[in-house]
Amino acid sequence: MDKSIAVSQDLENIITDIAEVARILWKLGWAESNAGNISVNVTEHIPEDIRELNKFPSKEIDKSYPELSGFSFFITGAGARMRDLAKEPSGNACILRIAEKSNRYHILWGRRSELGFEPTSEIHSHLSIHRFLLEKKAPQKVIIHAHPEELIALTHVKEYKQESKLNRLLWSMNPVAKIIIQKGVGLVPYCVPGSDELAQATIKALEKHDVVLWEKHGCLAIGTDMLETFDRVDILNKAARIFLACKSAGLAPEGLSDAQLDELERLFWSKK
Ligand code: 13P
Ligand code: ZN
Repeated sequence: MDKSIAVSQDLENIITDIAEVARILWKLGWAESNAGNISVNVTEHIPEDIRELNKFPSKEIDKSYPELSGFSFFITGAGARMRDLAKEPSGNACILRIAEKSNRYHILWGRRSELGFEPTSEIHSHLSIHRFLLEKKAPQKVIIHAHPEELIALTHVKEYKQESKLNRLLWSMNPVAKIIIQKGVGLVPYCVPGSDELAQATIKALEKHDVVLWEKHGCLAIGTDMLETFDRVDILNKAARIFLACKSAGLAPEGLSDAQLDELERLFWSKK
């Protein structure tokens, strides 16, 4: 028996944006095989009093999230390919609602657990970050994790494992990065993919940044909507690409000077 909540126009629009970003991630080569995962806090688009909640299939998580009880999230599936998500969101993701018993969730929409569906293996990063954002009453509801090649390449280079050096490099390669990514990118030292250790280290980095790099693995960004969140990573990866294009041509890139970067800061950064 297929049980699914009615999808409002607003929720439909969010799912359309997710599919669009999934398609772009695949086209850019940032989502090889099943790489990458996406979640969005969609609680405000879910009717508060879902009747007969127990009729929606429920499943256990190996960790409890009491603060998220009653909250609903669009979340991609473990092993789901971005290229498939782009074509068929409901077959490659679900909307889950954390149950009262907070180590369980109900699937309200999308692919069912009885069809072998499991939320992304990075579920602990996603849920821990949503909990962190809710605690801070932060406006961000979107989390995108992807594998942008050139940014990852830089995390393999000793010199750029220092946040200050990495940000100086990225800002100096693309003025838009300096204007838009004012908090710079955070660096999360390598942790096993899908681990709680990775989730905790990511939250620490998100105290100061909206985009973080997972050393030798990928990138994770938070934002208020799908396309804006994607754009931030795209801007940063462009900076990395320009740098590596010069290097692979055997050229030494000059980059924006300190004075030029200071000028952008004066002109564009908020004065708060
Ligand atoms: P999932 O398919 O479980 O989402 O994993 C992809 C990934 O990129 C892990 O970091
Ligand atoms: Zn990954």
